[in-house]
Amino acid sequence: MEQKQLEKFRNWFDNYVGGFYNNDDFVNAHLKLKQEHTLRVCREMQFLTNELGLAENQKLIAEVIALFHDIGRFKQFIKYRMYNDVKTVSHSLLGLEVLKEEKVLQAVDKEERELIEKAIEYHGLKKLPSDLNGQCLLLSKLIRDADKLDVFYVATEYFKHYKNKENKIFLELGVPDEPGYSHNIVEAILHGRQVDYNHVRMLNDMKLLQLGWIYDVNFQPTLKRIKQRKFLEMLLSFLPQTEDIQKVKEKILGYVDSRCAETKKERDYHGDSFTD
Ligand SMILES: [Fe+2]
Repeated sequence: MEQKQLEKFRNWFDNYVGGFYNNDDFVNAHLKLKQEHTLRVCREMQFLTNELGLAENQKLIAEVIALFHDIGRFKQFIKYRMYNDVKTVSHSLLGLEVLKEEKVLQAVDKEERELIEKAIEYHGLKKLPSDLNGQCLLLSKLIRDADKLDVFYVATEYFKHYKNKENKIFLELGVPDEPGYSHNIVEAILHGRQVDYNHVRMLNDMKLLQLGWIYDVNFQPTLKRIKQRKFLEMLLSFLPQTEDIQKVKEKILGYVDSRCAETKKERDYHGDSFTD
C-alpha cells in the first residue's frame, strides 16, 4: 500500500459520503455524526500505530481500515433511518458490500484487501473470533481500540449534554432513564466481565456497559489515552453516587492503572509472530 492510495481512498470517502446529504436535516445530522466519527477514528488510529511503532505499510493499511470501518453506516441510515444493527442489518457486512459494489479496493493486493475486509467485518463484534492470529489479529484489535476511543468520546459528550434535549436524537439508546441500575451488571463489572447488551434495562445500565468496555481494550496506549482524557471518571460521574458505584469506580480505575503499569515484553508487531 502506498500513501497515494490512502489519499485516493480519502477522496473517494468524501465523495461517496457527500453524495448522501439531502434536504432532510434529520438525515444530514446523523450522516455528519458518522462522517466525523470516522475522521476522528482515523486520527486515533494514526496515534496508536505510531505509539506501537508499526511499519509504514501497516500504518497505511490500518488507516484504510479506520476510514472504511463504518462505510456501511451511510447506506444503512438512508435506508432505515436508524443505526440499530439488531433492527436493521449488520453495518459491518453492509460496508463490505458497499466496498465491493463500488470496486473500491480493487487495486489493493489480495492479501492486504483480505486483511482490510476481515478487520471491518470483525470491528463491531462483541468479541473477536478466537482463531485469529498474525496481522489479521493485530489490525482487528487496532480498529476496535481506535473505535472505542472515539465511542468513549461520543458517549461522554452525549451524557454531558444530556439535559439539552436537542442532543437526544443522536444516540438511540432505546432504554428508559429511570433511577437506579441493575445489580447483575454491577456484579459483572466487579468480576472483570464485560456487560451483555441484553441485560441493559435502563440508561444507567448503559453507562455501566460502556465502563465495562475497558476490559476489551487491547493496547496500553489506548488505556493511557482513556486515562488521560478521563472518560471513565466522566461516565462514573453520570451515575448515582452509591456504595456499589464507588466499588465499580475502584475496580475500573484500578484495572486501568494496573494495565498501564505493566511492562510488556517487547512484541514483534511487524511480523507474523504477533499473537497477543
Ligand atoms: Fe462500526
